[in-house]
Amino acid sequence: MGIPNLFAYIVCLAGKSTLRVVFFAAWHEKPNGCYLQRPILSVVCNGIGRPTSRRASSLQTAGAFSRETGAVIFDDLRAIQLRCGFLPKAELEGLSQRTQTPLYQIHSVASFYPHFHLVPPPKADIRVCADMSCHLNGACEVRADLERRFAGSRPEDVQIRDVSCLGRCDHPPAVSINDRIFSDVTAEHAEQIARGAIRSETPHDPHPEQPRVECKADPYGDAEKYGVVRKLVQSRAWEDVLAQLKTAELRGMGGAGFPTSLKWDLVRRQPDPVKYIVCNADESEPGTIKDRFIMTHLPHLLIEGMIVAGFVTGAKRGFLYIRHEYHLQEEILGEEIRRCNRAGLLGKKILGSDIDFDLEVFVSPGGYICGEESALIEAIEGHRAEPRNKPPFPGQIGLWQKPTVINNVETFINVPQILARGVDWFAAQGSGGSRGLKFVGVSGHVARPGVFEVSMGTTMREVIFNHAGGVRGGRPLKAFAPSGPSSGYLPASLLDVRLDFKALAEAGSMLGSGAIVVCDDTTCMLDMALNAVRFYRNESCGKCVPCRLGSQKMTDMLARWTQSGLSDTQYRADLALLDDLSLAMSSASICGLGQIAPAPIQSVLKHFRGEVDAHVLRGQCPSGICFSAASRAGEAHRVGIRP
Ligand SMILES: Cc1cc2nc3c(=O)[nH]c(=O)nc-3n(C[C@H](O)[C@H](O)[C@H](O)COP(=O)(O)O)c2cc1C
Ligand code: SF4
Ligand code: FES
Repeated sequence: MGIPNLFAYIVCLAGKSTLRVVFFAAWHEKPNGCYLQRPILSVVCNGIGRPTSRRASSLQTAGAFSRETGAVIFDDLRAIQLRCGFLPKAELEGLSQRTQTPLYQIHSVASFYPHFHLVPPPKADIRVCADMSCHLNGACEVRADLERRFAGSRPEDVQIRDVSCLGRCDHPPAVSINDRIFSDVTAEHAEQIARGAIRSETPHDPHPEQPRVECKADPYGDAEKYGVVRKLVQSRAWEDVLAQLKTAELRGMGGAGFPTSLKWDLVRRQPDPVKYIVCNADESEPGTIKDRFIMTHLPHLLIEGMIVAGFVTGAKRGFLYIRHEYHLQEEILGEEIRRCNRAGLLGKKILGSDIDFDLEVFVSPGGYICGEESALIEAIEGHRAEPRNKPPFPGQIGLWQKPTVINNVETFINVPQILARGVDWFAAQGSGGSRGLKFVGVSGHVARPGVFEVSMGTTMREVIFNHAGGVRGGRPLKAFAPSGPSSGYLPASLLDVRLDFKALAEAGSMLGSGAIVVCDDTTCMLDMALNAVRFYRNESCGKCVPCRLGSQKMTDMLARWTQSGLSDTQYRADLALLDDLSLAMSSASICGLGQIAPAPIQSVLKHFRGEVDAHVLRGQCPSGICFSAASRAGEAHRVGIRP
C-alpha cells in the first residue's frame, strides 16, 4: 500500500471510528489555530499551568504576566478546582457567563490537560508509571499487586491507572498518588499511602535534600557567579557572543541539535521590538532526567544563559517552562530568580545599565507533547498544547506571535561555559573530535542509575559500564536506547558507538536528549517496542491523522504480535502495512512525536528480527514475557490513558 492508499485507509478508519467526532469537532473549533478569543491560561490545581510568580508573590513580574495571558480566568478555574475538587459543569457555566468566554472554549482547554478533573476524582488517585525505565523495573508487577490489594474497593475511594513517565526514571518504579510522586516504590508502600488518602490524609511527597554536586561544567565553583553577565553588560559585545557560539559549534541539546548561534541570530535580526526567551524544561520523554539534575545543581548557569540570550537578541522577558512534577527544581529556580532580582542581575536596568530582562517560571499543565516547542508556546498562551504547523518557526513568529528563542536547559548552560572559558576550552572537553561536556541520564537494568557528566564523544560502553556500574547483577547486556524511545534500540554489539550527533546518526539512532536506557538479556525487545509505541499513542495530541490513528494502529499490531501467532501470509501483510504506516507517519505527521513513533519497532525489526519472528510465526516469546494472560490484561488497562 503506497502513501495515498494508506491515507485513504486512515481516513476510512476515521470515518468508521468514534474518533471521527473528535477529529471533525477539532477541525471546526480551531479553524485558524486559535481556540480562545481571549487567552485562557491552562489551569489545574496545585499550581500546575501557571507562573510560579503568582504563587511566590516576591517575584516581580507577576502583574505583567497575568494581564498578558488572561490569568484571571485561570485563577477562577483553579479556585473552582481547589474548592470543589474538580470542575463541575455548573461552575464552568457560571465562569463562562462571568467572563463572556464561550463554554466550549473553556472546556477545550480543561479537557486537554490530564490534571484537570472534569468529574470528581477518587479519594486515592493512584497512577503507576508504565514507561521504559519503570517497565524494566517491575512497574507492571507493582500495578498488578496494587489491584489485588484494592480489589473490591469502591471507585470513588480508589482508582489505579497507568501514567506516562513521571521524571523519576533513575528511581523506578515511580507512582503518583493524588499528584504526589513516590519513587523506588513497593506495592505495600503505595497501598499504605493510598489508604491514608482514603482516610482524607494528605500524602506528602518525599522532598529529599539534594546536596549540590560539583560539576566540571560550572566555571565559577565557589567564586562569584554571573561573571559572563557582568562582563557583557560592560562590553555589550553581542556579535562576539554569536561568533563564539558559532565557532564552538554549539548545538541544541533538546533533541533536534539545531545550531544555537543560527537560532539566536535569527531572533536578533527580527525588527519587532518585543521578543521572548523560553527555556524548555518540560523533559517528559521516558528516561530523560538530565535537565532535572542540571536545574538542581547548576540553576545559576541556566539563568545566566537565558539572560545572555536576552542581551544578544534584545528580548526583555523570559519564561522557564518546567514540567509540573519537578517541584523541588521549581523551588530552586524560584529562589535563584529572586536572588538575581535582589542582586540586580534580573529586572529593570540590569547592573545599572539600560538593559531590562525579567524572568519567570511557568509550570507546565502536563503532557509530553508540551515539550514540542510550538505546543509549549500554545500552552503558555493558555490553549490546548497542539503543535503549530511550521514554518513559520518560533524564531520569527513565536510566543504571542513574537520572535522567540526556545532552547533546552542544557543548551543554555553551555553558553556561559563557552563565554567564561573560551571556545578552545570547550572544544577540549570533548573526546574523539567531539566538543563539550554532556549530561546523560542512565536508567533501566544498570547497577547505578543516575545522571552523569561526561565528555561528548565518550563511548556508550564507558558510560554504561564505568559510570553507571554496568548491567545490574552482572547479567549480559542485550540492548540499549541511546535516547529514550525516540532513538530506538541498538544491540550490545554497538556498545562502542560514541555519544555524538554524527556517530549516533551513523549508527541509525540519535543523540537526542541523552536518555540512555539499558536492557539486560532477560528483556523482550518486541515488548519494549510495544511499550514505546504505546507511549507515543498515549501522548499523541490527536491533532493530525497520521499520528493519531497511525500510533493506535501500530500499537494494535504489535500487541497482536505479542498475544497470538500469525500465518506467514498474515505476517508479511502486517510487515508491509507497518512499513507504509511508518512512512506515512514519519513523512506526514505535523510534529516530531508522530514522525519518530515508528523508530522503536523499526529498530527492533532491524536488530532483533529473529525475536519478532519467534513471536509471530512460532507463538514463542524467547524471554518468556509475552503471550501471558497478564500481558493481555496489561494492554486492556493501558488503552485510553489520556482523558
Ligand atoms: C514531542 C516532543 C517533545 C519534546 N520535548 C522536549 C523537551 O522536553 N525538552 C526540550 O528541550 N526539547 C523538547 N523537544 C524539542 C523541542 O521541540 C525543541 O526542538 C527544543 O526545545 C529546542 O531547543 P534546543 O535547540 O536547545 O535543543 C520535543 C520535541 C517533540 C517533538
Ligand atoms: S504528530 Fe501527533 S503529537 Fe504531533 S501534532 Fe500530530 S497528532 Fe499531535
Ligand atoms: S519515571 Fe517511569 S519511565 Fe520515567
